[in-house]
Amino acid sequence: MTDHQRLLIIDFGSQVTQLIARRLRELNVYCEIHPYQKVTDAFLADFAPRAVIFSGGPDSVTRAGSPRPPKSVYTLGVPILGICYGQQAMMEDLGGKVEGGKISGGGGTAEFGRAFVTPANDRLPLLDGWFATDREQVWMSHGDHVAKLAPGFQVYGTSPNAPFAITADPDRHFYAVQFHPEVHHTPNGAKLYENFVRMAGFTGDWTMDAYREQAIAAIRDQVGDKKVICALSGGVDSSVTAILIHEAIGDQLTCVFVDHGLLRLGEAEQVVTMFRDHYNLNLIHADESDLFLGKLEGVSDPETKRKIIGGLFIDVFQKYADGIEGAEFLAQGTLYPDVIESVSFSGGPSVTIKSHHNVGGLPEKMGLKLVEPLRELFKDEVRALGRELGLPDSFIGRHPFPGPGLAIRCPGEITREKLEILRKADAVFIDQIRKHGLYNDIWQAFVAILPVRTVGVMGDGRTYDFACALRAVTSVDGMTADYYPFTHDFLGETATRIINEVQGINRVTYDITSKPPGTIEWE
Ligand code: XMP
Repeated sequence: MTDHQRLLIIDFGSQVTQLIARRLRELNVYCEIHPYQKVTDAFLADFAPRAVIFSGGPDSVTRAGSPRPPKSVYTLGVPILGICYGQQAMMEDLGGKVEGGKISGGGGTAEFGRAFVTPANDRLPLLDGWFATDREQVWMSHGDHVAKLAPGFQVYGTSPNAPFAITADPDRHFYAVQFHPEVHHTPNGAKLYENFVRMAGFTGDWTMDAYREQAIAAIRDQVGDKKVICALSGGVDSSVTAILIHEAIGDQLTCVFVDHGLLRLGEAEQVVTMFRDHYNLNLIHADESDLFLGKLEGVSDPETKRKIIGGLFIDVFQKYADGIEGAEFLAQGTLYPDVIESVSFSGGPSVTIKSHHNVGGLPEKMGLKLVEPLRELFKDEVRALGRELGLPDSFIGRHPFPGPGLAIRCPGEITREKLEILRKADAVFIDQIRKHGLYNDIWQAFVAILPVRTVGVMGDGRTYDFACALRAVTSVDGMTADYYPFTHDFLGETATRIINEVQGINRVTYDITSKPPGTIEWE
């Protein structure tokens, strides 16, 4: 996608570098993150950025051999913004001085957490929209601090512990801040990025509308008249991948929807209806539930369940894919966070590449080339692209659903009877959540059927049925999570509905475990 205006983020290893990229993408600016080790003079010349941002990082510029950008970045003639470690690297490179932080005491100490910056000197266009009141809240996280400015720089904002909180050489368009404008705790930080890219002349040419057209052209270019196969799960990533490729090459694409019999109520029908009937896609509905459920019979160990499902998935997909004559490409919904190279400090100057294996190892095994049209996108952008492609909001905003499906929500042995009960209970719970307008406030919600029967009383009779657990969590990325604070009324109403409407369940519990120490799924 070389025809976009491009911004380069040089990564020095900050935990929040990806947030910088997301803030910029929200401004319709195309940016890429690259580890500092990779950014050479030749790389810079080839990338031809319209602006450059130096990220924060854990190292100290006072250490000999600490990470730096190549010197040629300062003669490109483009605006540069240094953040935290990036500020310090810029100062040292350009003739200023950085000192190690003292933990307490006035004037240039280590500082972690919320701070308030007040303006100094003239108004700087980078700060348009800032200081409507006399101070702005920012998030600091630094040990070292700038002690002497590089020639040409002035101070434009100070905080009690960071006299050089905002610095700039406006003539050269070099800007450097001690705090992190990309994080949520710098509430007005987005404005700073907006001003920076405006000054750099970005026109906001990165939109999903434009991307759609270019991605389609790129897919046609890559695939030519060859055939592509795609494992469609019904999740957002694989769905958007499939629809985009279908728009590009129509019937040259065949999708294989592996139905392992562990899907939610009505899910398989919905996927088939939407993709085959609505989008007119070549879709193979590989209904292999007998195979999967057969192999899972009598298996209780969670890891064994996962291994069985993962292994069978590959075998089944391969069987159907082999039947598609002349397929040369495999489509995958790999996203940008899966391919960003991260700075590795433990392993010296090497970089670690995280790779994504939806259908692990298959491309090599089958001699297929990959088509990955979402490789440049963040999840939010995939959703926006999905909307462009006509996917309904209700589909795009769906909670994540794990590959092994209901198997990991059915602790103990999996039986068809338990799956049937689980599906019905889950549908009631989700219906309740939607009816109460809570669906979009929750990261993920589902029911787990417990491997225990309990005694109950209904009408005049005694029951001996399964107990289930409701699980609903809030989360940003699935790495940590909190249980959702439903009201007692909501929980009571939901329990009553499940027990009344789902035969086979006579007890409902609510799982109030956070992650950590729990996981979101039960297995
Ligand atoms: P846990 O249970 O580890 O889940 O807290 C975190 C997130 O990952 C999802 N998950 C999976 N997704 N294949 C997937 O595609 C899997 O094997 C799998 N296991 C867990 C889970 O639903 C949650 O969103």
